[in-house]
Amino acid sequence: MFGNLKVFSGSAHPELAESICKYLGTPLCKLGRTTFANENVMIQIQENVRGRDVFVIQPSCSPVSDGIVELLIALDALRSASANRITAVIPYFPYGRSDKKDQPRISIAARLMADLIQTAGADRVLTMDLHAPQIQGFFRIPVDHLTARGALCAYLERRDLSNALLVASDVGEVKDVGAFSRILGLQMAIIDKRRMGNDDKAKPTHLVGDVEGKDAILVDDEIATGGTLVEAATFLLQHGARSVRAVATHPILCGAAVERIQQSGLEEVVVTNTVPVPPSKQISKIKVLSVADIFGEGIRRIHHSESVGAMFDN
Ligand code: R5P
Repeated sequence: MFGNLKVFSGSAHPELAESICKYLGTPLCKLGRTTFANENVMIQIQENVRGRDVFVIQPSCSPVSDGIVELLIALDALRSASANRITAVIPYFPYGRSDKKDQPRISIAARLMADLIQTAGADRVLTMDLHAPQIQGFFRIPVDHLTARGALCAYLERRDLSNALLVASDVGEVKDVGAFSRILGLQMAIIDKRRMGNDDKAKPTHLVGDVEGKDAILVDDEIATGGTLVEAATFLLQHGARSVRAVATHPILCGAAVERIQQSGLEEVVVTNTVPVPPSKQISKIKVLSVADIFGEGIRRIHHSESVGAMFDN
């Protein structure tokens, strides 16, 4: 119905795109990028896409603004090249934390990103573990929202969970942790975290639940500076937890995050490869799981007009 499948990658995470293509059994198509002396970017689609079902993979990662502009120009180029249907595959969505107007005179930048992606030419979006699921509502085109929860739980299930307790690292994570709790059959506790300003510093203030003597598993959607996770781990250990490990989908790991994790009381941090984790950030405490097959299956189902939701029925 939508013509042959064509998968392209921006420059953000070609390794993930290659692995997705391996799952799909299709070669990664070529996208040429030229950056001119004036820093303007030109993207050229180096294959015929007329009438094709096209997917372009570009998570948000450093350099963030450059990656967003590259994605927008690629979408526009694909539309101009007469692709039949274009799906923006955005494993980590840009500006996801700017999803509300919680200070005066600021932009809800996640909605702006949605507007830009649609205007540039996307017919659909495929993403994973949005900071807030409501971000889907910023789009007027279909959004398929994948989750890494199954992969993270499957990993945890290979550990001894007999004394484990899940912990939401802030109240925004409660629903998500509830889903982990249903899959793993574990009780949960909640940390009430406060941000004091816009400087990325977070402080746990209250604990709902009892972690005394427990092996705590912190759950979060992303790790940026690592402040939330490391402060939460210290807080839980102070409240008597026997051990603390963490799971999070998106390892942004900016600034001194890796050093913080290394020096913290966290035993293990399990993340996925929605964004690249360069060798300099790969330490033994951080375990990276691949979500390539989940995206590959999502793309396969979209291409064949099969249910994406059914991937997560169990
Ligand atoms: C915040 O609401 C998110 O769920 C994460 O806790 C946050 O983005 C982590 O940021 P950082 O690692 O900088 O504390």
